[in-house]
Amino acid sequence: MAAPIVNAEYVKEINKARRDLRSIISSKNCAPIMLRLAWHDAGTYDAQTKTGGPNGSIRNEEEYTHGANSGLKIALELCEGVKAKHPKITYADLYQVIMIFSLTYIMYLLLLCLLSYFMLHVSHMLLPCLGKFLVILTLSSLFAVVFVKLLIHLCYSLNIWTVCLAKVKTKGIQVLYMDNLLLFQLAGVVAVEVTGGPDISFQPGRKDSNVCPREGRLPDAKKDFQHLRDVFYRMGLSDKDIIALSGGHTLGRAHPERSGFDGPWTQEPLKFDNSYFVELLKGESEGLLKLPSDKTLLEDPEFRRYVELYAKDEDAFFRDYAESHKKLSELGFNPN
Ligand code: HEM
Repeated sequence: MAAPIVNAEYVKEINKARRDLRSIISSKNCAPIMLRLAWHDAGTYDAQTKTGGPNGSIRNEEEYTHGANSGLKIALELCEGVKAKHPKITYADLYQVIMIFSLTYIMYLLLLCLLSYFMLHVSHMLLPCLGKFLVILTLSSLFAVVFVKLLIHLCYSLNIWTVCLAKVKTKGIQVLYMDNLLLFQLAGVVAVEVTGGPDISFQPGRKDSNVCPREGRLPDAKKDFQHLRDVFYRMGLSDKDIIALSGGHTLGRAHPERSGFDGPWTQEPLKFDNSYFVELLKGESEGLLKLPSDKTLLEDPEFRRYVELYAKDEDAFFRDYAESHKKLSELGFNPN
């Protein structure tokens, strides 16, 4: 699929989508699942083969039915609602639609002229004066009808969206909808923002893809720090990224029917703060979850150093999280 042209119109559309996402995420309290969607779309990236990554492919059944993505269909459907509100028709499409309209009418007029010429010619040869008058009358009414039709058409054209969408459907011209991956990554950024987390700079212009990575690229919650390193290094990310991004578990909870695990990581799972690290250092707490992949962050000295830093310095966590999240959302994408 072609990369979208990031012009002023596209940026305006993104800002509108951002506002819609903000209102959906706040009203439905779905920040955690939206963040998980963005992470799971991006976390399949393989830096060596340059496959997977934040490319919207998770919207395909082949990928969202992977075991690790259990439950994410809910987030996909929420995004679908936002996407439907932001069809983006390129100028090229628009020109094509207008051209088809104009061509139809020009041909219509040409045919009418030819017909009139032919009829006048025949009437001149065959008919008396009254006959000529009748033919001219008929032709003038025909012209009047065409003129009125053209006027109606012009008014109709003023409502450009309606015209485009209707004609695009019937003429089969492709509407370029807002890219899925853009929406998923935007949803991740907005999820962090509306729950009180840091602002994450967002660069549009990625390309949607339909190519799904094979199953098994996302981390396994039952494994240790070496496995985490294998997975995140494959993406081209660092130790610091692993710890900072794991702080995403400050939001949400695990669901037994999805992952087999149960419960939230923090007391306030709809608030983005550094409490994930504070709780991790505290050890087991009644009602709170620690996955084996969370606990393993304390086993490696380099990892533990970051856990301790982020537990005592929320600003450092926010700064590093924003940086790592941006990296994650831009894997395989060079904005320049
Ligand atoms: C949820 C594993 C990294 C964000 C979960 C769940 C598991 C898991 C098992 C529970 C799913 C469920 O039952 O609904 C892991 C592992 C990671 C990892 C092994 C490796 C480090 C991340 C990262 C982020 C993230 C990097 C975001 C930056 C979330 C969120 C939820 C979640 C927000 C809660 C979803 C909800 O409430 O519906 N994760 N995760 N995770 N994960 Fe992770």
